[in-house]
Amino acid sequence: MSTTMDAQTFIHSLEEEILHHEAVHHPFLKRFASEKLTVEQIQTFGLQHYQLVKVFVNYMTNLLPKIPDKDAADLFRTVFDDEFGQHTIFRSHPALYRNFLKALGLPDEAWGRVKILPETSRFIEGHKEMTRGKDFLFALGAIGPGHEFSIPTMFAYLIEGLKKNTSLTDEDVEYFSLHIVEDVEHAVVFNKLISRHVETEEGQKRLRDGALQSLAYRKTFWDGLQRAVFGA
Ligand SMILES: [Fe+2]
Ligand SMILES: [Fe+2]
Repeated sequence: MSTTMDAQTFIHSLEEEILHHEAVHHPFLKRFASEKLTVEQIQTFGLQHYQLVKVFVNYMTNLLPKIPDKDAADLFRTVFDDEFGQHTIFRSHPALYRNFLKALGLPDEAWGRVKILPETSRFIEGHKEMTRGKDFLFALGAIGPGHEFSIPTMFAYLIEGLKKNTSLTDEDVEYFSLHIVEDVEHAVVFNKLISRHVETEEGQKRLRDGALQSLAYRKTFWDGLQRAVFGA
């Protein structure tokens, strides 16, 4: 006989599951953190990852109108403010990411010219589809626990590799270090909303399915990068 977990227990157990998921400790991340990297390898990573960075806010704008809670826009205000840059677009997350690309020696033209890996496209198309679909809880799982909660763990590996292999300044890698802090706060906002919808086993299932689907796309994305950066 199974009893339904209460909302907080469910969220906690899902977070534990994500912390140990293969996508957030992918071999690509481990190699990026530990091996000697050339600037070309880091640039290859940087340009593929930029494709995800620049569309992230679209998932949020797809998702928001589907959430039945009247205070959803208020709850997410801080998330949007952080994404768009509080008072200036120069601090939007894509803008901070472009600072990183520039510091890597990549000119503006390189950002548009990059050949997008099939795995990168699959990640983006998959998330657009999930957040455009009618199941808001599934989408909430993909963007809340699937993104905001999982990112600090993955970015720690990336920062380690960047620090070891480049002379980039703290400012140059701010995009990454800032997400380690901000996404912890964003996950809290998402959880506040999520906790209202995961009182039932059905709600828990939909939410978890969304998170795991997002992580499956994430694993595929790192698979692609492993091939492109390390050749295997
Ligand atoms: Fe962000
Ligand atoms: Fe975030």
